[in-house]
Amino acid sequence: MSLCFSSNSLVTLHSLPNNQSFSTRCFSSQFINQIQVSSIPNALTSSSLKLSQPFNYSIQRLKPITRSAAPAVETAPSSFRSKSPKDINVLVVGSTGYIGKFVVKELVSRGFNVIAISREKSGIRGRNSKEESLNQLKGASVCFSDVTHLDSLEKSLESLGVSVDVVVSCLASRSGGVKDSWKIDYEATRNSLVAGRNRGASHFVLLSAICVQKPLLEFQRAKLKLEAELMKEAEEDNLFTYSIVRPTAFFKSLGGQVELVKDGKPYVMFGDGKLCACKPISEPDLASFIADCVLSEDKINQVLPIGGPGKALTPLEQGEILFRLLGKEPNFLKVPIGIMDFAIGVLDFLVKIFPSMEDAAEFGKIGRYYAAESMLALDPETGEYSAEKTPSYGKDTLEEFFERVLREGMAGQELGEQTII
Ligand SMILES: NC(=O)c1ccc[n+]([C@@H]2O[C@H](COP(=O)([O-])OP(=O)(O)OC[C@H]3O[C@@H](n4cnc5c(N)ncnc54)[C@H](OP(=O)(O)O)[C@@H]3O)[C@@H](O)[C@H]2O)c1
Repeated sequence: MSLCFSSNSLVTLHSLPNNQSFSTRCFSSQFINQIQVSSIPNALTSSSLKLSQPFNYSIQRLKPITRSAAPAVETAPSSFRSKSPKDINVLVVGSTGYIGKFVVKELVSRGFNVIAISREKSGIRGRNSKEESLNQLKGASVCFSDVTHLDSLEKSLESLGVSVDVVVSCLASRSGGVKDSWKIDYEATRNSLVAGRNRGASHFVLLSAICVQKPLLEFQRAKLKLEAELMKEAEEDNLFTYSIVRPTAFFKSLGGQVELVKDGKPYVMFGDGKLCACKPISEPDLASFIADCVLSEDKINQVLPIGGPGKALTPLEQGEILFRLLGKEPNFLKVPIGIMDFAIGVLDFLVKIFPSMEDAAEFGKIGRYYAAESMLALDPETGEYSAEKTPSYGKDTLEEFFERVLREGMAGQELGEQTII
């Protein structure tokens, strides 16, 4: 017998792949949405549970695994794709991020069994408590664990006793710093691949970034290394597939000046405001695209650049939209891009003397990159950025987003800890 706890109502556990069925008793409680493994009755845990490292989690409804054969469960891609979402377990790492929480919401609304990995203190500067994370990730089984340690992650999943069909990673360094990028965008993401594979996952959806096509920054190199490993894995095991999603700019990255301009400040842009362009995409639209990648056969083993609806917009055009919405005369402050080059030169020099300044130098480069590089697909024939070659998806426009920020402010749209990504 297996027991499950749900914050909603009675839930049903699914029959196992081998048609062995579990009789299931479910407890419904508004209060029980988080339990200590160390205090779970034996009946709830599989015999393979190792309780040496207690962790917390909440369970909605998950497909259990047979106790002896975790890695062997149904690895053929078609085996999960032919099932209904309610019988598919999707592991989401980076579930508490700007995009990750929308991905969880979207997957839950499509009926998948979502296992969301969260830190005990999540969000920017760890400001969200466990309760807040549980609230944010409603409908998912939230597992508090540590993606930066493979052992911890594996033990957490083992203790849950569930198989994984698909892993979705929305992990990202919150700072963009050199070491943190490698630790999260590469190592932690790789941990989720390994742990997921060991629980039977045969598909991996990676939230990457369109800018990795021209890699000049450490986080881009870290992401590319992980992308390459996914491709290698798929080459070596034809039962394994991936979808690499490379979005253009998020709304949060473009909204930083809205309130300043509303308060009468000029709109600041580099050069003539036409050095770069992007097709901004909203969190719900991107989450929907990522959720499509879980089952869509046409997104298997693909690198998928993706933008939002409408034409590509330069900073100049973004500023014009903003002034139009405010009913104000455009007031632009054009900053020569050379200023950034000078600052980066100084930082690069200082870092040779003070290695501890490597992140400061990296942040300067990140700023320079986004001031001048378009977030559009590179046309392989011309080597130029191309709006036409950047697919559009979704319905939310930057103009609607600006209107919302003018009305309601930037809550929920804060950038990472130190950088502009
Ligand atoms: N900004 C843009 O315009 C843009 C455009 C295209 C692509 N992208 C890419 O999109 C991706 C996701 O961006 P996002 O804005 O959704 O990221 P985000 O809000 O910064 O979220 C990052 C996620 O990774 C987790 N994480 C970070 N460090 C961790 C650690 N040490 N241990 C455990 N978990 C950790 C965070 O958990 P906590 O909540 O616990 O911190 C969070 O769930 C990034 O790879 C970015 O490069 C961004």
